[in-house]
Amino acid sequence: MTTEPVITLRGVRAELGSRPVLRGIDLTVRRGEVVALLGANGSGKSTAVRTVIGQVPVTAGEVELFGTERRRFRDWARVGYVPQRTTAAGGVPATVTEVVSSGRLARTRFGLFRKGDREAVRRSLELVGMADRAKDSVDALSGGQHQRVLIARALASEPDLLIMDEPMAGVDLASQEVLAETLRTQVDRGATVLLVLHELGPLEPLIDRAVVLRDGCVLHDGPPPEAVGQHALPGHDHVHPHAPADAGPIRTGLLS
Ligand SMILES: Nc1ncnc2c1ncn2[C@@H]1O[C@H](COP(=O)(O)OP(=O)(O)O)[C@@H](O)[C@H]1O
Ligand SMILES: [Mg+2]
Repeated sequence: MTTEPVITLRGVRAELGSRPVLRGIDLTVRRGEVVALLGANGSGKSTAVRTVIGQVPVTAGEVELFGTERRRFRDWARVGYVPQRTTAAGGVPATVTEVVSSGRLARTRFGLFRKGDREAVRRSLELVGMADRAKDSVDALSGGQHQRVLIARALASEPDLLIMDEPMAGVDLASQEVLAETLRTQVDRGATVLLVLHELGPLEPLIDRAVVLRDGCVLHDGPPPEAVGQHALPGHDHVHPHAPADAGPIRTGLLS
């Protein structure tokens, strides 16, 4: 029995600045799956997940969410998204609670927060170990703490699908462990997860399948390449036994 697809990309192409960035991506993530999207910098990982949430227009192909064409999809409370962190300083400093509450908006009626909504925000902050910082400005946080807040925001709507773009990047070890544990909780409650990662690292035990992009194309879709988690040292190349003969070696020195 196959379970329902939560994310479907069929032959997806996308251009940025008239340059082709995705050149025909096929990707299916089914209910309850945890899929890692891997690939070198610039291979199109962020662009691929941004087509899913409608932030990048596709020039060809189809995108579906929960079996509905993305353009007709309305149930955004079912989707939690953690964007790739940038180092650029933001504008107006918001408090931790404000940021996390923004992730709950889609579940409210007309943006009105009731008791249950405030509790959901509180619970999300507790899940990532940030409840004691609820009133602090996000500017006062470390990189790892900031990332935890973004994840709490994505969890605040209790989404069925979580999409996270490099959640571990620039995050200290203590926060990495909190994030891995948080993710495990989400997986245990049946969430579907698409993670953009540089290396599997501490998340490796959670990953069901890995999709590797290269130059906007899918190079590998199957079992996670072991070398990525175990010894993804720069310059450590590893030919994966599942690689199709004509695809060339999978370079799991994914930072290159
Ligand atoms: N807004 C943009 N305008 C033009 N080119 C972009 C833009 N965003 C990303 N790109 C280019 O698209 C390619 C893929 O980028 P991205 O999806 O961010 O890759 P990844 O997440 O795998 O590092 C890169 O070559 C990048 O330079
Ligand atoms: Mg990216």
